[in-house]
Amino acid sequence: MPGELIDPDIRSARTLPAKYYTDEFEFQKILSAFKGWQFATHISDFKNNTIIPLDHIESINGESIVLIKEEEVKALSNVCTHRGMRLALEPCNRKKLHCTYHGRTFNLDGKLCHMPEFEQVTNFPSTSDDLPKYLLENWNGMYFVSQTEKETLPWNLLEKRLRFLEIESLVHDPLRDRDHPVNANWMLYVDNYLEGFHIPYVHPELNQSLDYSGYITEVFDGGVLQIGKAVEGDMKFDLPPEHPDYGEDIAAYYLWLFPNMMFNFYPWGMSLNIVIPISLSESRIIYRGYVKDPTLGEKGAGSILDIVEHQDQWIIELVQRGIQSSVYERGRYSPTREQGVHHFHRIISHHLEDKK
Ligand code: FES
Ligand SMILES: [Fe+2]
Repeated sequence: MPGELIDPDIRSARTLPAKYYTDEFEFQKILSAFKGWQFATHISDFKNNTIIPLDHIESINGESIVLIKEEEVKALSNVCTHRGMRLALEPCNRKKLHCTYHGRTFNLDGKLCHMPEFEQVTNFPSTSDDLPKYLLENWNGMYFVSQTEKETLPWNLLEKRLRFLEIESLVHDPLRDRDHPVNANWMLYVDNYLEGFHIPYVHPELNQSLDYSGYITEVFDGGVLQIGKAVEGDMKFDLPPEHPDYGEDIAAYYLWLFPNMMFNFYPWGMSLNIVIPISLSESRIIYRGYVKDPTLGEKGAGSILDIVEHQDQWIIELVQRGIQSSVYERGRYSPTREQGVHHFHRIISHHLEDKK
């Protein structure tokens, strides 16, 4: 389509203009993308609690949602239908949802069960007194919720490559969790994640574990998969013969799902980064660690995550300052190393088109 903000041909394309990172109006428009699918929790998080309020999603898009595990898992509104109090304030195992404001209670299927002092209220209770439900998807033990009905998650494309990881058998290890503020627009964090181009320049330690020449980027609707090859003798996946990458030395699969979810798969398990936009120039990054074999954590590309993270944040915060320049508008892409960034910018530009 002529006149597209981001040319589909990466060789002639120019990057997302600086104003999309620096203009409050554009920031607000892009934020509507965060009402779609969001990572909620992993099945191992239900081991100790059957009621889990999704506080991180509330920080992302303002919606207070609670996951409830009975025989099945449901995503319900975590807001009392009386006068709007939040219901579950922390993970727990209670048999009912109980409002601490005026004592309204709900069954775990969201149906109103009891309300004091409401005997004289007419047409009460009605269905509008029950808790509304949200869309919920479970893929290999990872739960996602959405407030919109648009688009499904691209699991059918990923199943072949990622099924062998048995993600549902991983176990949350809170010792690996982190929560970092970053003084940068959330899209700069995503841009940086989506290319391995900077690895030799910014991450000397990681560069020793990854074979830079073998780095692969694959793009698909709604996401990007990057595949890091291991240098000889370093930690790699033991792939089954039917796997599409069988015979290759794979150190890591880096999966990004639009807009803000990053799943990093290593032989020891999975680390998850969720980017939360706080303001135009501030973000928060939440990390979660899910472990398969804790003894493998100290080897290979997945062993130096804290060092790599600090190096990335240092760069991103400097870019945040750089793009404020009155003479920087936009750049060009490397066709061999920046396909992921180009794809992300295309998705953003289509999202902005839809909002017109
Ligand atoms: S707000 Fe929940 S009972 Fe009043
Ligand atoms: Fe990096």
